[in-house]
Amino acid sequence: MSVSPRNPLAASEIGAPMGDLAPSTVTSTPQRHAADLIVFGGTGDLSMRKLIPALYHCDRDGRLADETRIIAMSRGGLTDADFRGKVDAEVRPAVHGDDDEGWQRFLRRLHHVSLDVGSSDRGGWSALTHLLAGYEDRDRVFYLASPPMTFGPFCREAHEAGLVTPRSRVVLEKPLGRDLVSAQAINDEVGEIFDERQIFRIDHYLGKETVQNLLVLRFANAFLEPVWNSLWIDHVQITVAETVGTPGRRGYYDHAGALRDMVQNHLLQLLCLVAMEPPSRNDRESIRDEKVKVLQSLRPIVGSEVDRFAVRGQYTAGEGVPGYLDEPASTPTTDISHRVETYAAIRAEVKNWRWAGVPFYLRTGKRLPDRRSEIVIQFKDVPHAIFPGAAPNRLVLRLQPSEGIHLLLMAKEPGAGEVALRPVPLSLSFAETFQSRVPDAYERLLMDVLAGNPTLFMRRDEVEAAWRWIDPIIENWEGSESLPEPYPAGTAGPAGAHELLARSGRTWHEEEL
Ligand code: BG6
Repeated sequence: MSVSPRNPLAASEIGAPMGDLAPSTVTSTPQRHAADLIVFGGTGDLSMRKLIPALYHCDRDGRLADETRIIAMSRGGLTDADFRGKVDAEVRPAVHGDDDEGWQRFLRRLHHVSLDVGSSDRGGWSALTHLLAGYEDRDRVFYLASPPMTFGPFCREAHEAGLVTPRSRVVLEKPLGRDLVSAQAINDEVGEIFDERQIFRIDHYLGKETVQNLLVLRFANAFLEPVWNSLWIDHVQITVAETVGTPGRRGYYDHAGALRDMVQNHLLQLLCLVAMEPPSRNDRESIRDEKVKVLQSLRPIVGSEVDRFAVRGQYTAGEGVPGYLDEPASTPTTDISHRVETYAAIRAEVKNWRWAGVPFYLRTGKRLPDRRSEIVIQFKDVPHAIFPGAAPNRLVLRLQPSEGIHLLLMAKEPGAGEVALRPVPLSLSFAETFQSRVPDAYERLLMDVLAGNPTLFMRRDEVEAAWRWIDPIIENWEGSESLPEPYPAGTAGPAGAHELLARSGRTWHEEEL
């Protein structure tokens, strides 16, 4: 099927004029113009668990324009009333501060259109065309909460239906492809219809409060920058630990694994924010330019190095929970299921002047003892120790739960006699300090899409640079005879992950804060 050339858009034609857009990564502006948000995959898990609640919270806080509509698209054959009933039953119990009037107003924003992308039945596109007729000058956001292979066909069909206007944007959920080649193919297909500045590739970690605070911490405080380098920092740890397993997700997870599901996107984005150079401006391109330089500076891990620098594991049964292979699933276990990693740990290096010789340890896994996402900056030992028992300082940025920043300092325990030292945290808890609910990452990111601010979204070159680094590790694992190291559910991951640090006399940060 041929497509006519994409919209020849000037930057200023996309959504609100660029000069009007929220310029900052740390302020999310209320919507000024009504928009139509069309969610493909609108009745799926992501939509019902994250997007709809986030939109309700934005609405409740007065951040959605009065006339904004949310149009879910799915194969479900639902009417507007059915969809509203489903949201009422499934989402309302999960939202905060629900008031009946506000909730009913929110429900009235919701619509449903049945659509099967790739089918010869064009009825869904006609129904959507009808719903959107007369609203061509509104911002129009197509949010693709669907598998990546639908991205290209959806965009092409939307274009053929004449629905891609100069004020349209498209949001692509991760994972974008399963390797560099497939990511490039998707980017090309979507790029035939949408200009790069209309494409918002979402990584919800970038919308988390502490992640944005990392930029503020680094670039709005003078004292850290002089020590933010290999002279003072021994190593960095980035952990995203989850207690959940993968029940019901085998169809997806067998073909993803921890590396594609978490490391290629969330963990590498966090690494970029820690390692990037100070951007000259807080705008859409300057920050992303600096992040992409970090990804391009990662030392490739290839061939036999993969066994030295990367570890994979798969959970087996633990107390009261089944192993990965026995999780309830709609697809049977295959050879691939035995090979997929539910845990990954990697020792990465950023080869540049600032970070030479500083390892960045990344780890993520399912069915670990605690849900904990954090970045730990481990400083070096004091140059000359006069007190026995002094441990190096650690700066811990806790992303979840209990978002906050903790600086572990050495202090003297009170008391006479010999000086005894103890690491004590100097802590900033966001909930306590700001006395407000920490908004979900999707609230922030949805408002940014509606405002046309792409700063916290990934650019094509970033996504592709991340795949370029991940691909050799995946290829090695997929081509290897060995299987992931088993670890019982509820334990701290495979022994290999601990050896990865122990080899250089280091340990993972596990302290409660
Ligand atoms: C998603 C992954 O991107 O992130 C899931 O696909 C994972 O496997 C989730 O559970 C974790 O997100 P959060 O915000 O709960 O840490």
